[in-house]
Amino acid sequence: MDKLRITGGRPLNGEVTISGAKNAALPEICAALLTADPVHLNNVPRLRDVATMRLLLDNMGVQTETHGERGGMSFVAPDSLNPEAPYELVKTMRASVLVLGPLLARFGRAKVSLPGGCAIGSRPVDQHIKGLQAMGAEIVVEHGYMVAQLPQGRSRLKGARIATDMVTVTGTENFLMAAALAEGETVLENAAQEPEIPDLAEMLIAMGAKIEGHGTSRIHIQGVDRLHGCTHQVVADRIEAGTFLCAVAATGGDVVLRHGRADHLDAVIDKLRDAGAQIEAGDGFIRVRASGRLKAQSFRTTEYPGFPTDMQAQFMALNCIATGTSKVTETIFENRFMHVNELVRLGAKIQTDGKVAVIEGIDRLQGATVMATDLRASASLVIAGLVAEGETIVDRIYHLDRGYDQMEAKLRGIGADIERIK
Ligand code: EPZ
Repeated sequence: MDKLRITGGRPLNGEVTISGAKNAALPEICAALLTADPVHLNNVPRLRDVATMRLLLDNMGVQTETHGERGGMSFVAPDSLNPEAPYELVKTMRASVLVLGPLLARFGRAKVSLPGGCAIGSRPVDQHIKGLQAMGAEIVVEHGYMVAQLPQGRSRLKGARIATDMVTVTGTENFLMAAALAEGETVLENAAQEPEIPDLAEMLIAMGAKIEGHGTSRIHIQGVDRLHGCTHQVVADRIEAGTFLCAVAATGGDVVLRHGRADHLDAVIDKLRDAGAQIEAGDGFIRVRASGRLKAQSFRTTEYPGFPTDMQAQFMALNCIATGTSKVTETIFENRFMHVNELVRLGAKIQTDGKVAVIEGIDRLQGATVMATDLRASASLVIAGLVAEGETIVDRIYHLDRGYDQMEAKLRGIGADIERIK
């Protein structure tokens, strides 16, 4: 199992390129299932989760190929494809549920393993099932699989008004893809507004879909009979960018993020500025400068455009060595404080009580061996290692590799003393 060895205390200076967004690339790979025409994606990040999703489609009979330069990836999903997603692949990545909508929309049937829980919570898919049933799908859960089909005599899903019990990002994405080929109009009431949703919608529109309101909480989709191929550029990863902003704020330094989209990070940038970091943004870049100790910031995670849950662990690492006491409230997932015990091993002073963590800022963390438990917790531990005194070993960094494209190479490129040990 790979580990990262980090020697802390060095400022970060220079320039780093932000990759395509994991949480846009995953649904957009699934969107290729909606047509038999070739679909080309550019700026696809090199991540384990992307490799897993590609394997999932490959397993169904989709022809996939990568074009090294510019992170290009092409897909051809033939009519003869096998619309099944097996447990062995789905259990490692819950985003596999994103094949359900497109398979039902195009093939009228699907057999997709239930994702199972993960480190940050139970993460059910009941809203996905409820919404697709509203569109006419018959879905039963048997032997750990969702078995979905259209009723006798129906060859297409039908448009519906869908109001989920809570905002769900992949739920919204499943409904967008299903509705694109459904008969009639679909209205998504409390749709997710994360930037990956409009990015997926723009790709579907390039394929011939009729969608309005994407990026707001109310999306209208007018179903069409068929969709054609397209070429789409995956939007930059706002969580990778936010992670680097927090890292530089914590270590001090001056870094330019190429391709970073400040307009997708308002809540995080506001908090970093309040903490004392200087952040300026221009066309296709974000520059962050910081020196000395910052002021700890309290925040609560909420749906976009609020403070993203995917940035909670990283900002908490910054709060550990900032001045003052801060309170972090996690409102989206029920168990997203797995990084706290590991940060405490590095000397952090954190108390948790349910959804709330209270962090008392201290001067310095001490390097130690810590263990990654989930994707963003790993990023939090890397940031802590970059500022801790001495050497930190972060174990189980396959979690990090799921969602960060060459993290240690990018950090080394801006001056971090970090290396991967096999
Ligand atoms: C997406 O997960 C992201 N993953 C997550 O990023 C992100 O943390 C999350 O949205 C919230 O922003 C991808 O886009 C691949 P949800 P998703 O459905 O769609 C509950 C990362 O680090 N819920 O918006 O699975 C759910 O339990 C990952 O990149 C139901 O109860 O999250 C949670 O409490 C981690 N039933 C809340 O809603 C459902 O059917 C929000 O979940 C669906 C969701």
